[in-house]
Amino acid sequence: MAAAGRVAGKVALVTGAARGMGRAHAVRLAKEGADVIVLDVCAPLPSVAYPGASRDDLHETVRLVEVAGRRAVAIVADVRDHDLLCSEVAVAVDRLGGLDIIVANAGICVVAPWDRATPEILKDTLDINVVGVWNTVMAGAPHLVARGGGSVILISSAAGLKVQPYMVHYTASKFAVTGMAKAFAVELAKDSIRVNSVHPTGVETGMSAGGGLQAAIGAAIEADPRPAGMFTNMLPVERVAAEDVADAVLFLASDESKHVTALAMTVDAGVTQY
Ligand SMILES: NC(=O)c1ccc[n+]([C@@H]2O[C@H](COP(=O)([O-])OP(=O)(O)OC[C@H]3O[C@@H](n4cnc5c(N)ncnc54)[C@H](O)[C@@H]3O)[C@@H](O)[C@H]2O)c1
Repeated sequence: MAAAGRVAGKVALVTGAARGMGRAHAVRLAKEGADVIVLDVCAPLPSVAYPGASRDDLHETVRLVEVAGRRAVAIVADVRDHDLLCSEVAVAVDRLGGLDIIVANAGICVVAPWDRATPEILKDTLDINVVGVWNTVMAGAPHLVARGGGSVILISSAAGLKVQPYMVHYTASKFAVTGMAKAFAVELAKDSIRVNSVHPTGVETGMSAGGGLQAAIGAAIEADPRPAGMFTNMLPVERVAAEDVADAVLFLASDESKHVTALAMTVDAGVTQY
């Protein structure tokens, strides 16, 4: 039976899909008719203070995609592992019959003012948030080329457009993602592949669970209060929901945005303009 919905009949790859925004993207795309390859490392994350996602979390995402009436293929892999990503994605694409949408969402965030940051924090952040995103596009894009087109969505951050204080490494990684989206957009355009980046303000997810990130920001503000206002949203909301960001991802994944490419799309309650 033909699927109904805004991405009906398409196949999507979503990284970091075990929880948080990745799960929201996978479920939203499934509810609109896409089959989904859901990929996550399902392990403790380096350098971070919050707990990692589990295999049960990834299985729950699979369950939710199936409840939406679509097929899901789960991959447990680290986005830092280029070769594993390429081979596992190829197998999953073969099972689902092609690939149309890539959502490079996996990422980490470590709060550490410049004089508390370490080489390991910088390396882990760049390896996952930048190299991991590049690996994801490299693993998926050949399948979009084979399909004759598609949509690639890179999850950056408000910190990819405006400095987020107390995390030089994270801001650097997310600005790199913004540039990477535009650069891939230029070269993939000839194959009718669109590439856009998404820039959320603070979102309630596993990353923020337990209040560790907030506490670390609070301590940093106490030591150096002047940049604190940079976190203030223009709209009177503290955070947005993962589903709000998934709405933007769905738009960019669907043919409604067929002429939209190289766009840095904010879901930021205005923080980057304030
Ligand atoms: N939460 C926020 O406030 C916020 C704001 C702006 C942007 N972002 C970005 O959104 C994305 C999703 O973040 P989230 O808030 O849902 O975080 P989260 O920690 O809840 O989820 C991230 C998922 O990515 C997975 N992951 C991390 N490193 C991985 C790796 N090396 N290989 C494979 N999977 C890996 C984790 O296991 C986890 O399931 C990230 O890129 C993050 O930087 C988050």
